[in-house]
Amino acid sequence: MNFKPRDIVDQILPHRTPAQNQAKAYAPANIALCKYWGKRNETLKLPLTGSLSVSLAELGTHMQCRIAETDRLEINGQMQAADSKAFRRLFSFLELFREPGTHFHIQSTNTIPMAAGLASSASAFASAVNCLNLLYGWELSDRSRSILSRIGSGSASRSICAGFVEWYCGEQPNGMDSYAEALDETWPAFRIGILCLSDAEKAVSSGVGMQRTMDTAVLYQSWPTQVARDLPLLRRSIQDKDFECLGKTAEQNAMAMHATMIAAWPPILYWKPESIRTLHRVQQLRAEGVAVYATMDAGPNVKLVFLEPSQSDVQSAFPEMQVVQPFGSTCQD
Ligand code: DP6
Repeated sequence: MNFKPRDIVDQILPHRTPAQNQAKAYAPANIALCKYWGKRNETLKLPLTGSLSVSLAELGTHMQCRIAETDRLEINGQMQAADSKAFRRLFSFLELFREPGTHFHIQSTNTIPMAAGLASSASAFASAVNCLNLLYGWELSDRSRSILSRIGSGSASRSICAGFVEWYCGEQPNGMDSYAEALDETWPAFRIGILCLSDAEKAVSSGVGMQRTMDTAVLYQSWPTQVARDLPLLRRSIQDKDFECLGKTAEQNAMAMHATMIAAWPPILYWKPESIRTLHRVQQLRAEGVAVYATMDAGPNVKLVFLEPSQSDVQSAFPEMQVVQPFGSTCQD
Protein backbone atom coordinates (compact mmCIF):
# COMPACT_ATOMS: atom_id res chain seq x y z
CA MET A 1 0.00 0.00 0.00
CA ASN A 2 1.14 3.54 -0.78
CA PHE A 3 0.63 5.49 2.42
CA LYS A 4 -0.03 9.22 2.19
CA PRO A 5 0.90 11.80 4.86
CA ARG A 6 -2.83 12.19 5.66
CA ASP A 7 -3.14 8.43 6.44
CA ILE A 8 -0.34 8.68 8.99
CA VAL A 9 -1.71 11.87 10.56
CA ASP A 10 -5.20 10.27 10.81
CA GLN A 11 -3.68 7.28 12.55
CA ILE A 12 -1.90 9.45 15.15
CA LEU A 13 -4.35 12.28 15.95
CA PRO A 14 -7.08 11.55 18.50
CA HIS A 15 -9.36 14.33 17.12
CA ARG A 16 -9.36 17.63 15.25
CA THR A 17 -11.20 19.93 17.69
CA PRO A 18 -9.07 22.78 19.07
CA ALA A 19 -8.88 22.84 22.88
CA GLN A 20 -7.98 26.55 22.95
CA ASN A 21 -7.70 29.58 20.68
CA GLN A 22 -3.97 29.94 20.75
CA ALA A 23 -0.79 28.19 21.79
CA LYS A 24 2.94 28.80 21.85
CA ALA A 25 5.75 26.29 21.60
CA TYR A 26 9.46 25.99 20.90
CA ALA A 27 11.76 23.52 19.15
CA PRO A 28 15.55 23.67 18.80
CA ALA A 29 17.47 23.44 15.53
CA ASN A 30 19.83 20.48 15.28
CA ILE A 31 23.14 19.66 13.64
CA ALA A 32 23.72 16.11 12.43
CA LEU A 33 26.98 14.37 13.37
CA CYS A 34 25.93 11.47 11.12
CA LYS A 35 23.88 12.95 8.29
CA TYR A 36 20.52 12.07 6.82
CA TRP A 37 21.09 12.10 3.08
CA GLY A 38 18.64 10.20 0.90
CA LYS A 39 15.08 8.93 1.25
CA ARG A 40 13.47 5.56 0.74
CA ASN A 41 10.06 7.23 0.55
CA GLU A 42 9.78 10.80 -0.69
CA THR A 43 6.19 11.59 0.38
CA LEU A 44 6.53 10.30 3.94
CA LYS A 45 10.14 11.52 4.19
CA LEU A 46 11.43 8.13 5.22
CA PRO A 47 15.22 8.03 5.25
CA LEU A 48 17.41 5.42 3.63
CA THR A 49 19.66 5.33 6.72
CA GLY A 50 19.57 6.35 10.37
CA SER A 51 21.20 9.59 11.54
CA LEU A 52 22.41 11.18 14.77
CA SER A 53 22.37 14.83 15.77
CA VAL A 54 22.80 17.26 18.59
CA SER A 55 20.07 19.79 19.32
CA LEU A 56 21.05 23.43 19.62
CA ALA A 57 19.41 24.28 22.98
CA GLU A 58 18.19 27.89 22.77
CA LEU A 59 18.82 28.27 19.02
CA GLY A 60 15.63 27.32 17.26
CA THR A 61 12.07 28.42 16.51
CA HIS A 62 9.44 29.88 18.83
CA MET A 63 6.02 29.50 17.24
CA GLN A 64 2.68 30.95 18.20
CA CYS A 65 -0.51 29.77 16.54
CA ARG A 66 -3.88 31.54 16.83
CA ILE A 67 -7.19 30.46 15.32
CA ALA A 68 -8.00 33.26 12.85
CA GLU A 69 -10.28 34.31 9.98
CA THR A 70 -7.62 33.76 7.34
CA ASP A 71 -4.22 32.10 7.13
CA ARG A 72 -1.34 34.42 7.93
CA LEU A 73 2.35 33.80 8.51
CA GLU A 74 4.81 36.16 10.17
CA ILE A 75 8.46 35.18 10.39
CA ASN A 76 10.60 37.32 12.67
CA GLY A 77 7.89 40.01 12.53
CA GLN A 78 7.69 40.06 8.71
CA MET A 79 4.39 39.11 7.09
CA GLN A 80 4.98 36.48 4.38
CA ALA A 81 3.07 36.57 1.10
CA ALA A 82 0.58 33.73 0.58
CA ASP A 83 2.48 32.63 -2.53
CA SER A 84 5.92 32.65 -0.86
CA LYS A 85 7.80 29.37 -0.50
CA ALA A 86 7.76 29.49 3.30
CA PHE A 87 4.01 30.15 3.44
CA ARG A 88 3.09 27.41 0.98
CA ARG A 89 5.36 24.81 2.55
CA LEU A 90 4.17 25.46 6.12
CA PHE A 91 0.46 25.73 5.33
CA SER A 92 0.37 22.63 3.12
CA PHE A 93 1.78 20.83 6.17
CA LEU A 94 -0.69 22.45 8.62
CA GLU A 95 -3.53 21.43 6.28
CA LEU A 96 -2.89 17.82 7.30
CA PHE A 97 -3.91 18.55 10.88
CA ARG A 98 -6.96 20.82 10.77
CA GLU A 99 -10.58 20.59 9.68
CA PRO A 100 -11.36 22.44 6.43
CA GLY A 101 -12.40 26.01 7.24
CA THR A 102 -10.02 26.38 10.20
CA HIS A 103 -7.43 29.13 9.67
CA PHE A 104 -4.28 30.02 11.59
CA HIS A 105 -2.29 33.15 12.24
CA ILE A 106 1.24 31.87 12.78
CA GLN A 107 3.97 34.00 14.31
CA SER A 108 7.35 32.37 14.17
CA THR A 109 10.57 33.74 15.61
CA ASN A 110 13.93 32.18 14.92
CA THR A 111 16.72 32.55 17.42
CA ILE A 112 19.12 30.88 15.00
CA PRO A 113 20.60 33.44 12.58
CA MET A 114 18.23 33.23 9.63
CA ALA A 115 20.05 35.65 7.35
CA ALA A 116 22.98 33.28 7.38
CA GLY A 117 20.91 30.52 5.85
CA LEU A 118 21.39 28.49 9.01
CA ALA A 119 17.76 28.43 10.09
CA SER A 120 16.76 24.94 9.19
CA SER A 121 13.27 23.78 8.41
CA ALA A 122 13.83 21.31 11.25
CA SER A 123 13.02 23.66 14.12
CA ALA A 124 10.14 25.24 12.16
CA PHE A 125 8.26 21.98 11.55
CA ALA A 126 9.00 20.57 15.01
CA SER A 127 7.82 23.78 16.70
CA ALA A 128 4.67 23.74 14.54
CA VAL A 129 3.85 20.20 15.69
CA ASN A 130 4.58 21.11 19.33
CA CYS A 131 2.34 24.15 18.97
CA LEU A 132 -0.60 22.24 17.40
CA ASN A 133 -0.24 19.57 20.07
CA LEU A 134 -1.00 22.25 22.68
CA LEU A 135 -3.62 24.09 20.61
CA TYR A 136 -5.62 20.87 20.10
CA GLY A 137 -4.79 19.35 23.49
CA TRP A 138 -3.67 16.07 21.91
CA GLU A 139 -1.03 15.21 24.53
CA LEU A 140 0.99 13.29 21.96
CA SER A 141 4.12 11.34 22.93
CA ASP A 142 7.59 12.43 21.78
CA ARG A 143 7.54 9.53 19.34
CA SER A 144 4.27 10.62 17.71
CA ARG A 145 5.42 14.24 17.51
CA SER A 146 8.69 13.10 15.95
CA ILE A 147 6.85 11.10 13.27
CA LEU A 148 4.55 14.04 12.51
CA SER A 149 7.44 16.53 12.33
CA ARG A 150 9.31 14.17 10.00
CA ILE A 151 6.47 14.43 7.49
CA GLY A 152 7.17 18.19 7.31
CA SER A 153 10.93 17.83 6.96
CA GLY A 154 13.01 14.73 7.68
CA SER A 155 15.50 16.40 10.00
CA ALA A 156 12.61 17.93 12.01
CA SER A 157 12.02 14.46 13.50
CA ARG A 158 15.20 15.04 15.54
CA SER A 159 14.24 18.56 16.72
CA ILE A 160 11.59 17.14 19.10
CA CYS A 161 14.33 16.14 21.56
CA ALA A 162 17.19 17.91 23.34
CA GLY A 163 20.81 16.78 23.53
CA PHE A 164 22.11 13.91 21.39
CA VAL A 165 19.34 12.44 19.26
CA GLU A 166 19.16 9.39 17.02
CA TRP A 167 16.60 9.11 14.21
CA TYR A 168 15.89 5.48 13.40
CA CYS A 169 15.68 4.57 9.76
CA GLY A 170 12.85 2.09 10.38
CA GLU A 171 11.61 -0.40 7.82
CA GLN A 172 7.83 -0.28 7.88
CA PRO A 173 6.24 1.18 4.72
CA ASN A 174 4.00 3.45 6.86
CA GLY A 175 7.05 4.89 8.65
CA MET A 176 5.65 4.32 12.14
CA ASP A 177 9.05 2.95 13.19
CA SER A 178 11.00 5.92 11.74
CA TYR A 179 11.22 8.41 14.59
CA ALA A 180 13.88 10.07 16.72
CA GLU A 181 14.78 9.54 20.34
CA ALA A 182 17.18 11.29 22.72
CA LEU A 183 20.27 9.34 23.74
CA ASP A 184 20.50 8.82 27.44
CA GLU A 185 23.79 10.76 27.67
CA THR A 186 24.79 14.32 28.48
CA TRP A 187 28.15 15.96 27.83
CA PRO A 188 28.25 19.37 29.55
CA ALA A 189 31.62 20.32 28.03
CA PHE A 190 30.37 19.71 24.46
CA ARG A 191 30.27 22.81 22.29
CA ILE A 192 29.06 23.66 18.79
CA GLY A 193 30.53 26.71 17.05
CA ILE A 194 28.43 28.31 14.33
CA LEU A 195 30.16 30.23 11.59
CA CYS A 196 27.98 32.32 9.29
CA LEU A 197 30.07 32.45 6.15
CA SER A 198 27.47 33.28 3.54
CA ASP A 199 23.92 34.59 3.60
CA ALA A 200 23.11 33.72 -0.01
CA GLU A 201 19.99 31.58 -0.41
CA LYS A 202 21.03 28.07 -1.42
CA ALA A 203 20.45 27.24 -5.06
CA VAL A 204 19.60 23.57 -4.40
CA SER A 205 17.41 22.63 -1.41
CA SER A 206 18.44 19.63 0.69
CA GLY A 207 15.42 17.67 -0.54
CA VAL A 208 16.27 18.26 -4.21
CA GLY A 209 19.99 17.73 -3.53
CA MET A 210 19.55 14.35 -1.87
CA GLN A 211 17.22 13.12 -4.61
CA ARG A 212 19.61 14.20 -7.35
CA THR A 213 22.51 12.54 -5.53
CA MET A 214 20.60 9.26 -5.23
CA ASP A 215 19.56 9.39 -8.87
CA THR A 216 22.88 10.31 -10.47
CA ALA A 217 25.90 9.71 -8.20
CA VAL A 218 27.49 6.26 -8.44
CA LEU A 219 29.36 7.24 -5.28
CA TYR A 220 26.05 7.36 -3.38
CA GLN A 221 26.16 3.54 -3.29
CA SER A 222 28.82 3.81 -0.61
CA TRP A 223 26.74 6.10 1.63
CA PRO A 224 24.82 3.37 3.53
CA THR A 225 28.16 1.67 4.26
CA GLN A 226 29.57 4.96 5.58
CA VAL A 227 26.56 5.39 7.90
CA ALA A 228 26.69 1.75 9.02
CA ARG A 229 30.25 2.44 10.20
CA ASP A 230 29.69 5.93 11.64
CA LEU A 231 26.50 5.49 13.66
CA PRO A 232 27.91 2.87 16.07
CA LEU A 233 31.19 4.82 16.32
CA LEU A 234 29.29 7.97 17.31
CA ARG A 235 27.06 6.16 19.81
CA ARG A 236 30.12 4.60 21.41
CA SER A 237 32.18 7.81 21.45
CA ILE A 238 29.30 9.67 23.13
CA GLN A 239 28.98 6.93 25.72
CA ASP A 240 32.75 6.78 26.38
CA LYS A 241 33.21 10.57 26.04
CA ASP A 242 35.83 9.85 23.38
CA PHE A 243 35.91 13.27 21.76
CA GLU A 244 38.61 12.49 19.21
CA CYS A 245 36.60 9.58 17.83
CA LEU A 246 33.41 11.65 17.80
CA GLY A 247 35.03 14.60 16.04
CA LYS A 248 36.82 12.48 13.43
CA THR A 249 33.70 10.48 12.69
CA ALA A 250 31.48 13.56 12.39
CA GLU A 251 33.89 15.41 10.10
CA GLN A 252 34.50 12.40 7.90
CA ASN A 253 30.78 11.72 7.67
CA ALA A 254 30.08 15.29 6.53
CA MET A 255 32.91 15.21 3.97
CA ALA A 256 31.66 11.84 2.66
CA MET A 257 28.16 13.27 2.24
CA HIS A 258 29.56 16.24 0.30
CA ALA A 259 31.66 13.84 -1.82
CA THR A 260 28.45 12.10 -2.93
CA MET A 261 26.90 15.47 -3.83
CA ILE A 262 29.95 16.57 -5.82
CA ALA A 263 29.73 13.25 -7.69
CA ALA A 264 26.10 13.96 -8.69
CA TRP A 265 25.07 15.45 -12.03
CA PRO A 266 24.81 18.37 -12.28
CA PRO A 267 27.30 18.51 -9.37
CA ILE A 268 26.05 20.02 -6.12
CA LEU A 269 28.84 22.16 -4.80
CA TYR A 270 27.71 24.13 -1.77
CA TRP A 271 31.25 25.09 -0.79
CA LYS A 272 32.41 28.70 -1.08
CA PRO A 273 36.03 29.87 -0.85
CA GLU A 274 35.35 30.81 2.82
CA SER A 275 34.14 27.26 3.54
CA ILE A 276 37.39 25.81 2.23
CA ARG A 277 39.49 28.41 4.05
CA THR A 278 37.67 27.45 7.26
CA LEU A 279 38.22 23.72 6.73
CA HIS A 280 41.94 24.36 6.18
CA ARG A 281 42.11 26.49 9.32
CA VAL A 282 40.45 23.68 11.30
CA GLN A 283 43.08 21.23 10.03
CA GLN A 284 45.81 23.69 10.97
CA LEU A 285 44.38 24.09 14.49
CA ARG A 286 44.37 20.32 14.89
CA ALA A 287 48.00 20.18 13.75
CA GLU A 288 48.71 22.70 16.52
CA GLY A 289 47.03 20.38 19.04
CA VAL A 290 43.55 21.93 19.31
CA ALA A 291 40.82 19.27 19.20
CA VAL A 292 38.31 20.89 16.85
CA TYR A 293 36.37 19.29 14.03
CA ALA A 294 34.10 20.59 11.29
CA THR A 295 30.76 19.60 9.85
CA MET A 296 28.71 21.06 6.98
CA ASP A 297 25.15 20.63 5.77
CA ALA A 298 23.41 21.57 2.54
CA GLY A 299 25.04 24.99 2.34
CA PRO A 300 28.37 26.80 2.56
CA ASN A 301 28.40 27.37 6.33
CA VAL A 302 30.67 25.43 8.62
CA LYS A 303 29.83 24.28 12.14
CA LEU A 304 32.59 23.33 14.56
CA VAL A 305 32.57 20.80 17.36
CA PHE A 306 34.94 21.08 20.30
CA LEU A 307 35.03 20.78 24.09
CA GLU A 308 34.99 23.60 26.63
CA PRO A 309 38.75 23.49 27.38
CA SER A 310 39.50 24.28 23.69
CA GLN A 311 36.95 27.09 23.48
CA SER A 312 39.38 30.01 23.87
CA ASP A 313 41.76 28.61 21.21
CA VAL A 314 38.90 28.02 18.78
CA GLN A 315 37.40 31.42 19.53
CA SER A 316 40.72 33.22 18.86
CA ALA A 317 40.93 31.49 15.48
CA PHE A 318 37.28 32.31 14.68
CA PRO A 319 36.31 35.47 16.62
CA GLU A 320 32.97 35.76 14.78
CA MET A 321 31.85 32.27 15.88
CA GLN A 322 28.64 31.85 17.89
CA VAL A 323 29.06 29.19 20.58
CA VAL A 324 26.21 26.87 21.59
CA GLN A 325 26.19 24.76 24.76
CA PRO A 326 23.82 21.89 23.89
CA PHE A 327 23.74 20.71 27.51
CA GLY A 328 23.51 24.16 29.10
CA SER A 329 26.01 25.72 31.41
CA THR A 330 24.72 24.25 34.64
CA CYS A 331 24.51 20.55 33.70
CA GLN A 332 26.52 18.15 35.81
CA ASP A 333 28.43 15.36 34.09
C1 DP6 B 1 22.19 17.91 4.94
O1 DP6 B 1 15.48 17.53 6.53
O2 DP6 B 1 16.05 19.55 5.11
O3 DP6 B 1 20.96 18.86 6.73
O4 DP6 B 1 13.46 15.82 4.51
O5 DP6 B 1 13.74 16.83 2.25
O6 DP6 B 1 12.98 18.26 4.18
P1 DP6 B 1 13.80 17.06 3.72
O7 DP6 B 1 15.33 17.40 4.02
P2 DP6 B 1 16.03 18.08 5.27
O8 DP6 B 1 17.51 17.52 5.04
C2 DP6 B 1 18.57 17.77 5.92
C3 DP6 B 1 19.84 17.28 5.30
C4 DP6 B 1 21.12 17.67 6.00
C5 DP6 B 1 21.62 16.55 6.90
C6 DP6 B 1 20.92 16.35 8.21
O9 DP6 B 1 20.42 17.31 8.82
O10 DP6 B 1 20.92 15.19 8.66
